[in-house]
Amino acid sequence: MNIHPVNLKKPLLIAAALCLASSVWAQADEARAKKIANGSCFLCHGAHGESTSEIFPRLAGQHAEYIAKQLTAFQTGQRKSTAMADMVAKLTPDEMLALGRYYEQMKTSPQEANDPPLAAMGSYLYHNGNRFSGVPACVSCHGVTALGSATLPRLAGQLSGYIHTQLKNFHKRERTNDNAVMHAVVEKMTELEMAAVAEYVSSK
Ligand code: HEC
Ligand code: HEC
Repeated sequence: MNIHPVNLKKPLLIAAALCLASSVWAQADEARAKKIANGSCFLCHGAHGESTSEIFPRLAGQHAEYIAKQLTAFQTGQRKSTAMADMVAKLTPDEMLALGRYYEQMKTSPQEANDPPLAAMGSYLYHNGNRFSGVPACVSCHGVTALGSATLPRLAGQLSGYIHTQLKNFHKRERTNDNAVMHAVVEKMTELEMAAVAEYVSSK
């Protein structure tokens, strides 16, 4: 069959209109995310997701889908946090993903290790686990770069105090979303090992 160029005009116009519409939507989403972030999130997570307090995680460079998943978990109460529960109460799923995309594109940088020998011990554990006690190697899920993926959080450059607290929370079953996996990982870890691996990933 011969396709006359005139017959292609309509689909092309529709395609062009759809592209325009999706970029307009993307801009609207970004503007919305920016407004929410600058309205409240910045107070604890920093204007560029660059929190410097060990209590508040860095969001810069974190994966959009992971951020959206955590926001949903805070909203349903599956992940408990008094600070975050109020923040997410009124967010829609679209806003959560838009916030994720907003922070994902922000630049972040590694922390300087305060205790290099501790970080070196953490590096060993991260890549090899502890075969004497049965701690699995973090690398098998979080990857060599610790940059994570849509389903796995980025750990590289996260604040070590925050990482340490999360490991303890998984241990005590205080962080209950996806707890089966991370609880099994930290079950056999000592305080020293948790501190070491936290020190290592934050300096990556
Ligand atoms: C009053 C301080 C505060 C404000 C404001 C705040 N947060 Fe948080 N946020 C926290 C704390 C504390 C945690 C860590 C909770 C925990 O220990 O599990 C957290 C955790 C998170 C996490 C999980 C990160 C991870 O690595 O798992 C995300 C995502 C997040 N906040 C996004 C936001 C967004 C988006 C906003 C704005 C709508 C916001 N936060 C506003 C205090 C705050
Ligand atoms: C079997 C796969 C697997 C292994 C091995 C693993 N993790 Fe995880 N980890 C996960 C998953 C999945 C999540 C996401 C949980 C969620 O979505 O709430 C996670 C989440 C985390 C978080 C929370 C990050 C944040 O931003 O709040 C930290 C910290 C963490 N892992 C550290 C480690 C360390 C350190 C090791 C090695 C000792 C390790 N993990 C080994 C699968 C794994």
